[in-house]
Amino acid sequence: MSPVRLPSSEQRRAFVRRLLRWYRRHRRDLPWRRTTDPYRVLVSEIMLQQTQVDRVLPKYREFLRKYPSIEALAAASVDAVRETWYPLGYNIRPVRLHAIAREVVRRFDGRIPDDRDTLLRLKGIGPYTAGAVLSFAYGKRASILDTNVRRVVQRVFYGTTPQRDTTLWQVVEHLLPSRAVYDFNQAVMELGATTCVARTPRCAVCPVRALCRAQPYFAREAARRDAARGVAAGRAAAPGRAGAPRLRR
Ligand code: ADE
Repeated sequence: MSPVRLPSSEQRRAFVRRLLRWYRRHRRDLPWRRTTDPYRVLVSEIMLQQTQVDRVLPKYREFLRKYPSIEALAAASVDAVRETWYPLGYNIRPVRLHAIAREVVRRFDGRIPDDRDTLLRLKGIGPYTAGAVLSFAYGKRASILDTNVRRVVQRVFYGTTPQRDTTLWQVVEHLLPSRAVYDFNQAVMELGATTCVARTPRCAVCPVRALCRAQPYFAREAARRDAARGVAAGRAAAPGRAGAPRLRR
């Protein structure tokens, strides 16, 4: 297998600088960004795993009103927890979160572990959630790679050539600055959630477009879409040509 081509130190510095400046100006004020409480961070990250921010917001508040601490969650019945979680989806996430709460209370006296290996041994906590808890709750130097981060890093540094997760993990670890770990991780996620979105990224307002390998591709795509729309509009405007809407008389 060919060795991974990591971003150069110049690319890395430019990416971090531009991204952090953008984030400080454009970040959304989200309740889980106002806390470093490990329990609250864990609840938010598990809720956000398969659900969009605006759907999570009311449920996150309701959940924490009902279960304000990990002890309160552990003391509840799993059915009650699933009920509260609904309609974010009747799925395995509330069941796992509840089991994590019970295990943390039983084995760690209610303190969510602050080292990666112990976190990863809790069922339902994978490398992403472990990185999120370590960096957002404990301020540790830990990387994250979720769907949003994956898309950003893939596009900026590798364009449209898909990379494996093992490569992308190496890249996020390489990019992580020694300071502002929290903001950096939130910022990459934020860029993926609001700007570098899946189908039609908003490259015109992207702070890292000058570095982005995928940007020329998306610029061509946008031009193609505009041209197609222009042709359609032109047809509609030119009476009598094929495809023009019939006018009612
Ligand atoms: N998606 C997953 N974690 C998130 C976070 N902390 N902020 C915004 N979106 C997220």
